[in-house]
Amino acid sequence: MAYEGLRGFIEEVERLGELRVARGCDVETEIGAVTELAQHRINGPAVLFNEVPGYDPGYGVFVNSVGSPSRTALALGLPTGLGWKQLVPLWRQRMKEIRPIPPQFVADGPVMEHVQRGADVDLLKFPTPKWHEFDGGRYIGTGVVDILPDPDSDWINLGTYRVMLVDRNRVCLYISPGKHGRIIREKYFARNEPMPVAMSLGHDPLLFIASSLEVPPGMSEYDWAGGVRGAPVPVLKGPVTGLPIPAHAEIVLEGFIKPGERAPEGPFGEWTGYYASGEREEPVMTVEAVYHRTNPIILGSPPCKPPSELTSYRALLRSALIHDQLERAGVPDVQAVWTPEAGGTRLFIAVAIRQRYPGHARQAGHIAAMCHAGAYLGRIVVVVDEDVDVTDLNDVIWAVCTRSDPEQSIDIIKRAWSGPLDPIIHPSRKGFNSRLIIDACRPFEWRQEFPRVAEASAELMERTRAKWGDYILGGAPSPVGAAR
Ligand SMILES: Cc1cc2nc3c(=O)[nH]c(=O)nc-3n(C[C@H](O)[C@H](O)[C@H](O)COP(=O)(O)O)c2cc1C
Repeated sequence: MAYEGLRGFIEEVERLGELRVARGCDVETEIGAVTELAQHRINGPAVLFNEVPGYDPGYGVFVNSVGSPSRTALALGLPTGLGWKQLVPLWRQRMKEIRPIPPQFVADGPVMEHVQRGADVDLLKFPTPKWHEFDGGRYIGTGVVDILPDPDSDWINLGTYRVMLVDRNRVCLYISPGKHGRIIREKYFARNEPMPVAMSLGHDPLLFIASSLEVPPGMSEYDWAGGVRGAPVPVLKGPVTGLPIPAHAEIVLEGFIKPGERAPEGPFGEWTGYYASGEREEPVMTVEAVYHRTNPIILGSPPCKPPSELTSYRALLRSALIHDQLERAGVPDVQAVWTPEAGGTRLFIAVAIRQRYPGHARQAGHIAAMCHAGAYLGRIVVVVDEDVDVTDLNDVIWAVCTRSDPEQSIDIIKRAWSGPLDPIIHPSRKGFNSRLIIDACRPFEWRQEFPRVAEASAELMERTRAKWGDYILGGAPSPVGAAR
């Protein structure tokens, strides 16, 4: 990797010309609204907030870290200057080469520059934004990495589970049902034991990506991030919990979640574009120690109505993961997968295949809907032929409108994995939802007789573009005589 930690990443973003520095924005409304402005714009800039009124002027908040193809490429060690579509094959190839590299324990690191323990813990000194106008609190952890140990093995799970400030030494975590962190927590609670937790609030965005993505099953997120970096992630042994904490983190909290201790959490603006999970009681972590660098920077990644940062880089990553999982499940000739931003990269999956046998399209659709990377809170899966560009929603919807006949082309999967964030499920019935699989491929048995598509052949269009493209589309001089 060309950089170390969050501040190294920020320097590289500045070099790319994609950094804006916003001074003097307040935590109540301005940081949140400016973040929405930057994130909601496709490929908008990264923003570093500092000199936040009421806080140490050196403390910062950094947002939209991986909200463009170049910044995502920087975090993943891919070439910058390319578009999402060009990055997909490069990342798919890279994913195949990743070999896990376990983290390396080091004796000391910059995160230990400032240490507060016990009564000295004061979380209120960090500029913690109210990200959306109708949030129920201020969220210190959005681009957070929550570090949780499995009580039954040596597995350390990293997950991005949002973290709300309760008071100067307590925070509240929301973890959706079915997520690894929730399963681990339930094990501790079933034994009536406190769960140790470490939280990194600012770090290399690669760690955030690892923690917020369904990395391949069985692989630890630290090992995966090490594999992507090509070098182990340096970690320290947390003095309170013994958990591995990133040595170059900006801020780390350590403490325990005790069974039975709960506080109201939410509402919070979520990735579906709604405040759908409302307010609930959630487990509370009592923070026993805080470590931070001089002039620490919180990594913020608040969701909002798509498109947003979350839906941009995740379209690349989730599409590649689903493609990979389809292949591993034995679905042949998958040509492309895309999870469009409008669906938050979960609610809509488009898969292109080269049809090989009867039932191939249904097989691809059902597996895309139910594989690890596609299962949680999905809604619609569309399977199309290879001539349809899955990254172009117009093309996908055209295929649905012309190659599917609802009576024949639709399957519904009932009682699938959903959760409190699903806006269409009534609050009293949250948990399950259903999936629509649309087979928008030419019907297999008469695909050869299916009407020809009324567009110029690729070869004719290439010749035409080469000769006329710059003049007709770009205003260049006419290739034949003077323009009239
Ligand atoms: C910005 C952001 C915020 C997220 N917030 C939450 C959250 O509050 N709760 C949750 O369960 N998942 C949340 N997720 C999704 C999880 O991080 C993701 O599903 C991850 O794979 C969970 O890790 P796990 O598979 O080890 O449980 C968030 C993802 C992102 C990118």
